[in-house]
Amino acid sequence: MVMTGWLDGAYLWVKAAHVILVIFWMAGMLMLPRFFAYHAQAAADSEEDLVWRERERRLLRIIVNPSMVLAWIFGLMLATHLGFEGGWLHVKLVLVLVLSAFHGMLARWRKDFARGENRHSDRFYRLMNEIPSVIIILVVILVIVKPF
Ligand code: HEM
Repeated sequence: MVMTGWLDGAYLWVKAAHVILVIFWMAGMLMLPRFFAYHAQAAADSEEDLVWRERERRLLRIIVNPSMVLAWIFGLMLATHLGFEGGWLHVKLVLVLVLSAFHGMLARWRKDFARGENRHSDRFYRLMNEIPSVIIILVVILVIVKPF
């Protein structure tokens, strides 16, 4: 079955939806490591610890997880419209898979905090903040400049 071009005039609307959801998703990828850096400095089971646990749970459940699923759905619609062609798209897909794995790591660290079992320092989480930043820069250059 050939899907290429199937979105027709809806293509730009789907692309707009994709970029909006990507912004919500990336906001979470940048906020969560920063939350964890502050959270790591709070004493276990203190009032501050409990407040961070709730903030992290709500951010992931209400914004970040649904945004990731929808950004993927709209992105894959665009990719099938384009017939999955272009070196830029292939490299982008690899990078967004890495980003999705990073999302999985954030979800795991959130669970560790929720059980009072955080194993990392605030410095570690500050370093982790660089991962989504670098991937976002590369992905935007790939989709806008399309160097190959
Ligand atoms: C989740 C998996 C993703 C898939 C399958 C995907 C796929 C795509 C495809 C096929 C396009 C159309 C490009 C065009 O019309 O030239 C697109 C556009 C775009 N994507 Fe993604 N994408 C994903 C995630 C992301 C992420 C994580 C970011 C940002 C960090 C991002 C940023 C953008 C931007 C800014 C555009 C608009 C480019 C333009 O038309 O100028 N995407 N995406």
